[in-house]
Amino acid sequence: MEVAALFALTLLLGALVILVALAVGRRKDEIREETEQAAESAAEASVAKGPTSKKQKQEKQRIRKDKPAQHSFSHPLLAASLKGHSGKVTCMDFSSNGKYLASCADDRTVRIWSTKDFLEREHKCLRANVELDHATLVRFSPDSRAFITWLANGDSIRIFKMIKKEDGTFNFKAAPEDFPQRHKAAILNIGIAETGKFIMSASTDTTILIWDLKGEVLASINTNQMTNSYAAVSPCGRFVASCGFTPDVKVWEVCFGKGGEFKEVARAFDLKGHSAGVHSFAFSNDSHRMVTVSKDGTWKLWNTDVEYKKQQDPYLLKTVPCSSSEGSRVALSPDGRVVAVTDGRSVALFDAASGQLEEELRGVHSEEVSGLSFDVNGRFLACCGDKAIRVFHNAPGYRAAIRDMQDMLRKAQNEAMKQRLQQQITEAQSALDAVLAAPAD
Ligand SMILES: *[C@@H]1O[C@H](CO)[C@@H](O)[C@H](O)[C@H]1NC(C)=O
Repeated sequence: MEVAALFALTLLLGALVILVALAVGRRKDEIREETEQAAESAAEASVAKGPTSKKQKQEKQRIRKDKPAQHSFSHPLLAASLKGHSGKVTCMDFSSNGKYLASCADDRTVRIWSTKDFLEREHKCLRANVELDHATLVRFSPDSRAFITWLANGDSIRIFKMIKKEDGTFNFKAAPEDFPQRHKAAILNIGIAETGKFIMSASTDTTILIWDLKGEVLASINTNQMTNSYAAVSPCGRFVASCGFTPDVKVWEVCFGKGGEFKEVARAFDLKGHSAGVHSFAFSNDSHRMVTVSKDGTWKLWNTDVEYKKQQDPYLLKTVPCSSSEGSRVALSPDGRVVAVTDGRSVALFDAASGQLEEELRGVHSEEVSGLSFDVNGRFLACCGDKAIRVFHNAPGYRAAIRDMQDMLRKAQNEAMKQRLQQQITEAQSALDAVLAAPAD
């Protein structure tokens, strides 16, 4: 009912704006812009229940007038532009079952998108309201039936349950209590371990907190890196890692006993090799590879599949020059074949094995890219940075997979194997051709 009412209101406001605009004979694209703004005001009105002061209103109008025209972007690999948020999207996360993408924005909503519709013309989303606050970070729980958020004003974690309705959509229910406020500096990231055993939160002041799912702090880590620029939980759920002002990336293991009880946080290994601070890092899906991007002007790929308990160190596989800047993000495709690095508003895609630059996506967003992630199957790369989320076909991933299979074909001994590889190559090639033949938006 509420959605229907909002929709009707939006239409009404939109129609009014169009009438007025037609009367004064404005240009067509200006009308579209105004209509979108009317929709935004309606959305804002529905979430901001409190009274707005006259000053705030004037302020808003001023911002509206100064607002530049809608950012437009096109690229042959663009698969979808997910539009729905009326504020800046600051974080996204794919669910581990591969079905959903969650995004949060300063419009006081978290949206849940269906990955199944990425190639459709319409991209529907479900909307969870973040009451009296907005979320700056969002992460799915391992079972894809809940998500955690970082609250901008509350400075704490709020958990939302996704309760399935008969029609297959969800009701969203916030946990009765938010986590207590414990961080003293700006937050960098949050995460839930895939094992479901802990939640992590990290702030710029070198503090990482390990929480149980009820909001009790299990451990506090001081990273000793002067300031931190990024921290994350590994996809296997065993490790927590951080980077910052110092050139080393530090990795800890969060240890639990046989009965599932928390034991300790132990140093696991360091990635040593950069000659300046590290902006960001990412893991492959099995945590056997890591990629790091540094102020020293390179990204590095590491083999982290080592027995660190026997003092074995991770080893460096590749160092590749790339442009980066404060706030740069990096992503590694789940199979470890493709590295994506952001620099301001742009994203570069590299082949991980050869280090070759494969694609440059320039000016993807109207503001700095704030989130970057491959989907769990490695078919798509998504990024955010303004109101829209851009989803790209991972063409470099398809090409790298084809090259690997061609290599195997050359070495294959038996006929059955050769035939199977040949068929897989043909399939992958036609999937890639289809992707390149059908650019969206
Ligand atoms: C990692 O991703 C690859 C490619 O999508 C997939 O085949 C593999 O099963 C995934 N492994 C894990 C541990 O999720």
